[in-house]
Amino acid sequence: MPVFASGLMDEIRAGFAHVDTCPFEGPRVFFENAGGALTLKSVAETSAAYASYPDNQGRDNPASRSLMAAIAKGKADMRTFFNAPSGQVFVGESGTEVLFRLVRTAALGAKSGGIMLGSTLEHPASRSAMTRWADVTGRPHVLVPHDDKTGTVDAAACRKYMTPEVRVATIIQTSPVTGISVDVKAIAAAIREKSPDCFIIVDGIQHASHGHIDLAAYGVDGYAVSPYKVFSRHGYGVGWASDRLTALTKETVIGSPPTTWELGTRDAGSYATFSDVVEYFVWLGGHFTKSSDRRARIEAAAKAIHGHEQQLGHAMAHGTGNLRGLAELPGVTIIAGADNAKREGVISLTLDRMDSVELVAFLNAHGVRTHARMDDHYSGNVLAPLGLKSCVRVSFSHYNTEAEVAQFLTAMNEASGRA
Ligand SMILES: Cc1ncc(COP(=O)(O)O)c(C=O)c1O
Repeated sequence: MPVFASGLMDEIRAGFAHVDTCPFEGPRVFFENAGGALTLKSVAETSAAYASYPDNQGRDNPASRSLMAAIAKGKADMRTFFNAPSGQVFVGESGTEVLFRLVRTAALGAKSGGIMLGSTLEHPASRSAMTRWADVTGRPHVLVPHDDKTGTVDAAACRKYMTPEVRVATIIQTSPVTGISVDVKAIAAAIREKSPDCFIIVDGIQHASHGHIDLAAYGVDGYAVSPYKVFSRHGYGVGWASDRLTALTKETVIGSPPTTWELGTRDAGSYATFSDVVEYFVWLGGHFTKSSDRRARIEAAAKAIHGHEQQLGHAMAHGTGNLRGLAELPGVTIIAGADNAKREGVISLTLDRMDSVELVAFLNAHGVRTHARMDDHYSGNVLAPLGLKSCVRVSFSHYNTEAEVAQFLTAMNEASGRA
């Protein structure tokens, strides 16, 4: 049974810009969502409107009051989306910048000495921030190795490296290369067993569009999201910081409230576009629960998104209609296995008879956009231990359809020499 009935799928797709046609290239299937998801049409409209407003915040006029109201609403919506009744939400330059700022504040504010702990699964955004601030604060930066076979890292692996001396720790919630998620709550609990005061920062950038975020349950101190990966636009990052992280000394304009993380004039449009994203989740969730509670609807939407994406992933791996799936195609290898229950919207693969760059071009020529990941500073952490120079990342989202999977598999069958 499809999670989204066909009428609902049409409505979902109608909400997004460029859903089946690239404005530069023409018709295409978009399986490059991990590079940046499709943008909601409402976000594009809101962006244009806010970009045109000349007024600034904090003035005694209706335009200014309206901008302040949009920021307040954006913050309230972020809290609902993250399930974060405490702490502070804020907007920064990008997801990477938000991670750097959270890590920097934690590293400079934590008790001196000790170590900083991350894992080899992390994206260079958090790893680079940790390396830099471990260096500046004179602490070793220790990395827990991820498991190549499962494409993830778990609490048991982290426990082996845990000591009461861990001052700052980072966790990636979903790898953008393997597509496999991590149990943030379990790892945070494992960290706190030994080092209860550790500052724990989470990279939720790849996870956010695929499921459920529950900061009230995770027991962490910082969280970062890149809005263009959750149906909003480029140009800002969204962060959350716990009350104890917020209470540390941080860069701030003299005289501003101690809870403020923002620096300088805020872009009200970024808050307003995040509200559009949250509104979209609330709308979608309304098809799966009778509750009028916004958080309950977001949770229902996340569950439906997860269910639909699992179906797409299964169809990619095992076929649809008469088409063979990736797991049955000769020469295809799927990183972290064909049936990984923790997969979130990404299948990374290799084909023995074709180089990854060539396969991406072949798929492009067949109207399917994917992306080649190379053994470089972005993906080498996953590819090098597997002995791979590159892979093709096929990344999907809840607005993708089984018909699009079929188009992809038709091309893959041909590429593998089966067709
Ligand atoms: C897991 C993860 N973390 C961090 C980043 C960096 O995000 P941004 O470039 O939006 O700052 C990315 C981007 O691909 C990512 O997938």
